[in-house]
Amino acid sequence: MLKKVAILTNGGDAPGLNAVIRAIVKTAEHNGIETYGFIEGYKGLLQNNYIKLDSNSNASGLLHKGGTIIGTSNSTNVFKYKIQKENGEVEYKDLSDECVKNIRNAGFDCIFALGGDGTQKSSRDFSLKGINFIGVPKTIDNDVAHTDTTFGYNTAVSVATEAIDRLHTTAESHHRILVLEVMGRYAGWIALESAIAGGADVALIPEIPYDINKIVEKINSRREKGKNFSIVVTSEGAKPIDGELVVKQVLNDAGLDNIKLGGIGDKLAHDLEKLTGMVSRNTVLGYVQRGGTPSAFDRVLSTRYGVKAMELAMNGIFNVLVTYKGGEMGYVSLEDVVGNNKVVGAVSGNTKESNIRKIKMDDDLIKVARHVGICLGD
Ligand code: F6P
Repeated sequence: MLKKVAILTNGGDAPGLNAVIRAIVKTAEHNGIETYGFIEGYKGLLQNNYIKLDSNSNASGLLHKGGTIIGTSNSTNVFKYKIQKENGEVEYKDLSDECVKNIRNAGFDCIFALGGDGTQKSSRDFSLKGINFIGVPKTIDNDVAHTDTTFGYNTAVSVATEAIDRLHTTAESHHRILVLEVMGRYAGWIALESAIAGGADVALIPEIPYDINKIVEKINSRREKGKNFSIVVTSEGAKPIDGELVVKQVLNDAGLDNIKLGGIGDKLAHDLEKLTGMVSRNTVLGYVQRGGTPSAFDRVLSTRYGVKAMELAMNGIFNVLVTYKGGEMGYVSLEDVVGNNKVVGAVSGNTKESNIRKIKMDDDLIKVARHVGICLGD
């Protein structure tokens, strides 16, 4: 019998986090179970910092609220925790046993970890230490393995689509090439779906390294038809066939995702202006994709994820990720989610080692994009 459970939200925030929290709390209360929330993800677990969640007070009015009421952190890997010594030296320690002690002392029967691939990697590592974890796949990038749609993704695509709509009118008025750089890390879901939804002319995704000449051909063929403007949507992780990823910053932190992507949009605008002679500008959409109120789809999906997570816990099914596949809620073991990234405490998420879900070349979206004339840079 479950008595006490806790939630943590970890990694970059995503619309729908609060809706999942609400669904877990309500389902728990309905079944006489207490819910707590660790503050700022795994950091709160390490610091033993948690609060009681109550649907009549602090966990009320959450469905439409962006962000997360219990905070998040994307700079904590408790299995390889960075410690700054007084002499300025840095050392890394495995502090996961502290977290295990905190969970056991508080008597939590299960921890719900709302996060992307990095968070779920730590969930799996904790499950090997005998702690009951249930993962819920959160990320605007939609790149968590074994699930069709993560919560937050639909809202991010809607925001990007609105941006494309707005860029269309100004591009057309000025006869310009307008580039939109969207998020997504090493997966092109946001770029591809928003390009289809917004009617962009070019969509560049990490899964297809682009040939700049193909983009120029597309833009020139539009000009020949009297269309003196073009919209290019690029994923932040897109790269040229003969070049590298454009990286904004490299953090020097073992055990964490070290690379901040960004800058490919500027490069494209610069290269396209040179090669076409058309004025080209770049817009970086940035964090507006992650902030604010979730779409109706994400509110429903988040609620389904939260209810399913609590149901699994009540049925004693632990160390799994809740999944959404073919319209059905289900689950898969955390071991399968991490794939070959098995080493405990190894670099957390969003890296070469991660088992992320990228767009496959036989995905229907690729075919659809090509059929409606979107140039994918190849
Ligand atoms: O994973 C979500 C995401 O928003 C990515 O799309 C983006 O590359 C990254 O997080 C940005 O991370 P940070 O919040 O560390 O700047």
